[in-house]
Amino acid sequence: MGIMIRAEQAEDREAIHRVNGIAFGREHEADLVDRLRGLPDTLSLVAVVAEAIVGHIFFSPVTLEDGNIEGRLILGLGPVAVLPEYQRQGMGTQLIRQGLEQCRRRGSQAVVVLGNPQFYARFGFVPAGEKQLRCEYRVPEGAFRVLELEPGALAGCRGLVRYRPEFGDGG
Ligand SMILES: CC(C)(COP(=O)(O)OP(=O)(O)OC[C@H]1O[C@@H](n2cnc3c(N)ncnc32)[C@H](O)[C@@H]1OP(=O)(O)O)[C@@H](O)C(=O)NCCC(=O)NCCS
Repeated sequence: MGIMIRAEQAEDREAIHRVNGIAFGREHEADLVDRLRGLPDTLSLVAVVAEAIVGHIFFSPVTLEDGNIEGRLILGLGPVAVLPEYQRQGMGTQLIRQGLEQCRRRGSQAVVVLGNPQFYARFGFVPAGEKQLRCEYRVPEGAFRVLELEPGALAGCRGLVRYRPEFGDGG
């Protein structure tokens, strides 16, 4: 299966909405992407198979409410979605790896994620508490994670991580 991962283009919007809607089985994440699209420091990549969009990943900047971000750019990963018939074939992994590489190239120092601990651990995400970062949402133990894109990137950084207001209450 030939997979191409590339940046979102203007004509991809409908397909991205569809992929998120189907993968999550609800419109919440698809609508969220529509609200976040085009905001500063966001990154949107699609996975394409035979010219059809079958996967998508989005990153948006977070802030530290009671801490010191010191000019660093910390991005939040999510949502990430792959159509059910293409899951468990490594596409999500490729989207995440290439997404993280793009974040690094854009000058981001770290990426946070809220999701399945085992899945994200394989990319090197550690519990955010280990780096003195807390999540604004009430989340299961170990679900909020962070990855430093360069060693020591978060030194001296601590606080409450807030996602973009477009996330609403995060539900
Ligand atoms: C999560 C998701 C993007 C992964 O995409 P994928 O292409 O299946 O991922 P990969 O094939 O690269 O990796 C699959 C691995 O991820 C893990 N995994 C995938 N989906 C998972 C899930 N919902 N819960 C827990 N683990 C999951 C499995 O351990 C699997 O490993 P295995 O095949 O060795 O068992 C995809 O399952 C999806 O779109 N899910 C619905 C939306 C979602 O929950 N997104 C993540 C939250 S933002």
